Amino acid sequence: MPDSPLLVQDHGAIRRLVVNRPDKLNALNLETIAALDAAFADAGQDAAVRVVVLTGTGSKAFVAGADIAQMNSLPAIEGREFSRRGQQLMRRIERLPKPVIAMVNGYALGGGLELAMCCHLRIASDTARLGQPEINLGLIPGFGGTQRLLRLAGRAAALELCLLGAPIDAARAQQLGIVNRVVSTADLEGETARLAEQLAQAAPLALRGILDAVVLGGECALEEGLAFETAQFGLLFATEDMREGTSAFLEKRKPIFRNQ
Ligand code: COA
Repeated sequence: MPDSPLLVQDHGAIRRLVVNRPDKLNALNLETIAALDAAFADAGQDAAVRVVVLTGTGSKAFVAGADIAQMNSLPAIEGREFSRRGQQLMRRIERLPKPVIAMVNGYALGGGLELAMCCHLRIASDTARLGQPEINLGLIPGFGGTQRLLRLAGRAAALELCLLGAPIDAARAQQLGIVNRVVSTADLEGETARLAEQLAQAAPLALRGILDAVVLGGECALEEGLAFETAQFGLLFATEDMREGTSAFLEKRKPIFRNQ
């Protein structure tokens, strides 16, 4: 039986999704995109999962892009469908009601950088290389890269990466705001686990409110975003976790959040 293109591993409330095509540097073919889409749909619905960590098998690549061999053989009309399916996956991840951390353990190129950019936090090893090299294939980013890079890093960086196609190192990606943290390869697993554990202990409904307000707020006018923030803030007053968090502060103890 062939290896599954995606490994799903649970560590308490943390679900790890590992793209598993190491001999192709974890490139995203249609089968892998479908497996990721199903896995994120499941993680979004499973109340036992509070945080998702996304990474790639091996020490060389997070994801080295969309599968170039598969794209090479796609008939014209299917190219559009390939982009549509990729974008649908990225949007599902971005709109997941729980935090998703991309652990960027090597190359994050093309669809790999697009995949990392739709996650809510990115932690990279100092040897990672990130870029949008589609121009070298006679293509443009098709899984949302032109739009998310623009919003994350601004127009100058988006145009530089997409027009020139050259990858950048993790330090430069951090300077540009594309990754949140850079750590040594040896520390990558440990630092990611610490980050995930911190999020797993946080109040899930408040995390969800933040994700909704920040992600949707980035896509609408300030006035609408502020109104949405107020609505989310007000809703949290109806939760037990808000009573627990504020009581725990006043009683000088650690809160225990129950997702209620
Ligand atoms: N799609 C399909 N296969 C890919 C791939 C991709 N995006 N990236 C790497 N692979 C495959 C290679 O074809 C090779 O397969 P093979 O052993 O059957 O020939 C295998 O993964 C190892 O890659 P290789 O190129 O030999 O490794 P390297 O260390 O010499 O170079 C990279 C690493 C990442 C610089 C190089 O693989 C690369 O440029 N990949 C394409 C990146 C890209 O353009 N991504 C955007 C796609 S839209």
